Amino acid sequence: MTKKVFMNTMGCQMNVYDSTRMLDALAALGWTETQTPEEADLLMVNTCYIREKAADKVFSCLGRFQEIKQARARKGQDTLIAVAGCVVQALGDAVLKKAHSVDIAVGPQSYHKLPELVTRFNRKTGRKTVAEFTSVEKFDTLAPPVSHGCTAFLAIQEGCDNFCSYCVVPYTRGCEYSRSAQAVLDEARALADTGAKEIMLLGQNVDCWHGAGPDGKPWHLARLIERLAEIDGLQRIRYTTSYPVDITDDMIAAHRDIPKLMPYIHLPIQSGSDAVLKAMNRRYNVSQYLAVVDKLRTARPDIAVSSDFIVGFPGETDADFEQTLAVVDQVRYAQSYSFKYSPRPGTPASLMKNQVPEAVKAERLCVLQTKLLALQKAYNLRFVGQTLPVLLTEHGKEKGQLNGYSPYLQNVHVCLPENRLGDIVDLHITGATASSLSAEPASLSSKRN
Ligand code: SAH
Ligand code: SF4
Ligand code: F3S
Repeated sequence: MTKKVFMNTMGCQMNVYDSTRMLDALAALGWTETQTPEEADLLMVNTCYIREKAADKVFSCLGRFQEIKQARARKGQDTLIAVAGCVVQALGDAVLKKAHSVDIAVGPQSYHKLPELVTRFNRKTGRKTVAEFTSVEKFDTLAPPVSHGCTAFLAIQEGCDNFCSYCVVPYTRGCEYSRSAQAVLDEARALADTGAKEIMLLGQNVDCWHGAGPDGKPWHLARLIERLAEIDGLQRIRYTTSYPVDITDDMIAAHRDIPKLMPYIHLPIQSGSDAVLKAMNRRYNVSQYLAVVDKLRTARPDIAVSSDFIVGFPGETDADFEQTLAVVDQVRYAQSYSFKYSPRPGTPASLMKNQVPEAVKAERLCVLQTKLLALQKAYNLRFVGQTLPVLLTEHGKEKGQLNGYSPYLQNVHVCLPENRLGDIVDLHITGATASSLSAEPASLSSKRN
C-alpha cells in the first residue's frame, strides 16, 4: 500500500520550493501527497522563524499533529511526525525536546537526507535532528525536479551574508551560496519540459548569484537570465528577492532588453528613514534606494515595484515613520508587505534598549497599510480598459472562473473554460480592487465594441 504524506508549508517562497523538493524526493520512494492530515502516515511541517508569530504557529501545528497521531494510534496506525525548515536550524534539538511527538527534524540545508531518515526510522533507535549547513551536498543529491503546474520556483541562491540587525535568515539559512549555472540551466530545462511556462528564480539575496558558466567565464544574474530566456517553452522569468544596492547595471539593462524577463521587481526598502536604515545595518540610504528605482524606471518605464516594510524598529520615532510614508508616496508601490518589528533571539536589534511599544507599532502598521492599499488600488485601477497578457495558473474561487497573473504580477480573474489553464491569454481588464483585476477575453470585448 502506498504511504501518504501531509505537508504544511509556512514561511517564504524558498520554503514552498523546499517543500516541493521534499515531496518529490518522497514521491520517488512511493509516497503520495494527501491534503487530509488524518490519513497521512507522515505528517510534516516546513517551518519559518522570521517573526515570533511564525515560530509560535509551528508549535500549535505540532499540537494538532500530536492529536492526530494519538487518534491514529488508537486505530492501530503508525504515524511519523517530521519538522523541517528554519525553526529546526534555529532551535536544533530543542524542537524534539519541546514537542515530544516529533520523530524527525531536518534543517533547511539538510532535507535531502529526509527520505533516508524516514525510511530508516526506527522507534527503538529513536528520534533525530539533522541540521547542518550543506547547500552544496543538498543540491547535488536531489533528483531533477518536475513542474507541478505552469509556474515553478527555482532556488538559485541560498543564505545571506548581510546580517541586517533584525533578521534571523543568516542564522537559519547560513552564508551565501550560489548554485552552478549548469545546475540552474538543467533544472530550468527539466521544469520547462514538464510544463512550466514561468519560472521564479529564488534567493534570499538573488542578485548576488554568481558562478562559473558552462563557458568557463564568471557569470552573474543578468547573463544567467539571458541564457534561461533561450529555453524553449519558458515564456516568463521572474526573480526575488533583490537587495536594493546589489542590483547591477547589467540587470537593469536586462529589464530593458529581455522580453521574457517580467516587468516586476521586489525591492524591499524596510524603512524610509536613513537613521533607521543605519540601525538596521542596511547598506544603503534612502537617496541611493530612490536612485535604483529611477534607473529601473528609466530602463523599463512600466516596471512594477514592490517592497517590504518593518514598522516600529527599535528607536523609530514618529518623524522616522513619517519619512517612510513620504517614500511610499514618492515610489507609489504596486504591491507591498509590511510587518511590525518582531525581536528575534540572537539578533543585535533584539538587544537594543529603545524598543518601541506594541501599541505604537500596531498604530503605525495600520496607517502604513491603509496608505499602501490605497496606492495598490490606484495602481490596479490604471489598467481598467487595457489589454494584458495573463498566464492562467489555477481555478478561481467561483465556478467557471480561472485565475492568472499579469506581467506586473497582478492577480486576474476571468471566466474561461478550464482547458485554457497554462495558456497566456490576452485579457481585457474590466475592473480592479486593491488585490486583483477582473477581466474578459480580449476577443470578446473587441466583438462587443
Ligand atoms: N532577503 C529579503 C527578505 C527576507 S525576510 C530582504 O533582504 O529583503 C522577508 C521580510 O521579512 C523582510 O524583508 C522584512 O521586511 C521582514 N522581516 C525580517 N525580519 C523581521 C523581524 N525581525 N521583524 C519583522 N519583520 C521582519
Ligand atoms: Fe535578512 Fe537582511 Fe539577509 Fe534579507 S538581506 S535575508 S533581511 S539579513
Ligand atoms: Fe522564514 Fe526561513 Fe523563509 S525564516 S522567511 S522560511 S528563509
